[in-house]
Amino acid sequence: MALRVACHCSRALNMGLLLLLLCALAPPIFAAPARAGSKAPVSVGQFWHVSDLHLDPTYHLTDDHTKVCASSKGVNASNPGPFGDFLCDSPYQLILSAFQFMKDSGQQVSFMIWTGDSPPHVPVKELSTEIVISIIGNMSSTIRSFFPDLQVFPALGNHDYWPQDQLPVSANEIYNAVANFWKPWLTDEAVSTLKKGGFYTQIFQTSITSQPLRIISLNTNLYYSPNSVTLNMTDPANQFEWLENTLEKSLQNKEKVYVIAHVPIGYLPFVRNATAMRECYNERLVKIFRKYSNVIAGQFFGHTHRDSIMILLDEKEKPITSLFVAPAVTPVKSPLQTDSNNPGVRLYQYDPLSYNLLDLWQFYLNLTEANMKNESNWKVEYSMTKAYGIEDLKPESLYEMVKQFTAQGSKIFQKYYSHFIVNYDKSIVCDEYCKISQLCAIQYLAHSLYSDCIRHEAQDK
Ligand SMILES: *[C@@H]1O[C@H](CO)[C@@H](O)[C@H](O)[C@H]1NC(C)=O
Ligand SMILES: *[C@@H]1O[C@H](CO)[C@@H](O)[C@H](O)[C@H]1NC(C)=O
Ligand SMILES: *[C@@H]1O[C@H](CO)[C@@H](O)[C@H](O)[C@H]1NC(C)=O
Ligand SMILES: *[C@@H]1O[C@H](CO)[C@@H](O)[C@H](O)[C@H]1NC(C)=O
Ligand SMILES: *[C@@H]1O[C@H](CO)[C@@H](O)[C@H](O)[C@H]1NC(C)=O
Ligand SMILES: *[C@@H]1O[C@H](CO)[C@@H](O)[C@H](O)[C@H]1NC(C)=O
Ligand SMILES: [Zn+2]
Ligand SMILES: [Zn+2]
Repeated sequence: MALRVACHCSRALNMGLLLLLLCALAPPIFAAPARAGSKAPVSVGQFWHVSDLHLDPTYHLTDDHTKVCASSKGVNASNPGPFGDFLCDSPYQLILSAFQFMKDSGQQVSFMIWTGDSPPHVPVKELSTEIVISIIGNMSSTIRSFFPDLQVFPALGNHDYWPQDQLPVSANEIYNAVANFWKPWLTDEAVSTLKKGGFYTQIFQTSITSQPLRIISLNTNLYYSPNSVTLNMTDPANQFEWLENTLEKSLQNKEKVYVIAHVPIGYLPFVRNATAMRECYNERLVKIFRKYSNVIAGQFFGHTHRDSIMILLDEKEKPITSLFVAPAVTPVKSPLQTDSNNPGVRLYQYDPLSYNLLDLWQFYLNLTEANMKNESNWKVEYSMTKAYGIEDLKPESLYEMVKQFTAQGSKIFQKYYSHFIVNYDKSIVCDEYCKISQLCAIQYLAHSLYSDCIRHEAQDK
């Protein structure tokens, strides 16, 4: 299999978030304890993950449904209510309800990760550098107002720039403004690299006795296919070099690392043969992450707006890292799409000594119900260990779980798919074509094995 790994990326697959899907699903079954932490032993650490808030400041209820939100782009909103609409980005009230729920849940967390995308999906000319800065500033102060003392680790998204997707490789007005908003959470060194390249690293020390946890917040928007600033660049903003150096030091210092970023590595689960990043950048990241899998205890992304997992395998197909893509808070979809997602936020549980991931609790808002009742009742959607009968979220455990998905008509895969769209619609089923794309994307992050998987699976059916 000939594989070009050189990073002269002229071939850009422009796969945005909005894509047509033909997948469908079966009724989810879930037990829903009121509090995830109530049954957890003392030796469990927790952190929140929120992603893709996409505030639409124009959202308001009015009789003319084409005017409810700028993000519906002139299309009639479908069923607008106080908490939003599936054709609109988030009203401020939806975002407030998410953070209010997280606060009221009483969960003890040591930090929060926030994987980007604050501005709405509207045509470029309807935003500006000033508006984008003001929306990111708004979301940063909103989070701080709910959690004034909580350590937050943010990452930049492809919408956190103007024009969208075109994140630059050197200092600019937006990185500078964002670094100032995030200063209360970050060290001087982190603020300094954030201003230059949109990425940073920082140590999080849970207690004096534990080994340090290092957060690496990558600017994977530099690798995103629609970013024309980085076209043909071998190492945009020297982030690869910086990442390798950072991981090498972590290895030497016996740290553990969580990688957080907006645009995920690997293949998109809902289409065939498409990575979110340019393929050469994807190959390079897979190599780096394989080399340092012993230090990386987890990777966390957003951007697709859907709930999915990936498992990084080594050359011998041994699972070596667990990767998670958290669903969005925004429920938005394009009018052409059949599926969307209910708003979601999630809680991870980890072993505070090894930083191995023990479980995740996905929470969601049934948007239809919330609008009907004029009341936001955020609920547990599922716990990953309970939903799939696995021990923890270590790569071996996730791999075991995925093996169960492969069986024809697998009920447990249907459950995975209903989680993928955050209980959006029980009548949508993921057919055979859809399932093959999902399964290959979960297990194979690099080109050669992914293509083998697609070819092999398609042949078998
Ligand atoms: C954030 O934006 C919302 C909606 O436009 C507005 O109501 C609120 O006052 C803003 N908050 C801050 C802190 O800027
Ligand atoms: C929006 O809905 C109204 C009322 O049903 C209809 O008259 C109008 O044509 C719709 N507009 C668009 C752009 O679909
Ligand atoms: C990138 O490289 C291709 C071919 O190698 C070339 O045609 C193109 O002009 C280059 N683009 C930029 C922006 O340098
Ligand atoms: C969400 O609420 C609607 C309206 O009450 C209901 O029809 C639907 O079944 C609910 N979805 C889930 C997953 O509970
Ligand atoms: C929804 O509830 C809020 C208070 O929670 C209230 O101010 C508002 O009037 C209610 N809207 C409707 C349509 O009942
Ligand atoms: C995806 O790639 C496989 C293997 O390279 C190929 O056989 C298949 O036709 C491609 N499918 C699409 C939809 O591009
Ligand atoms: Zn997004
Ligand atoms: Zn995005």
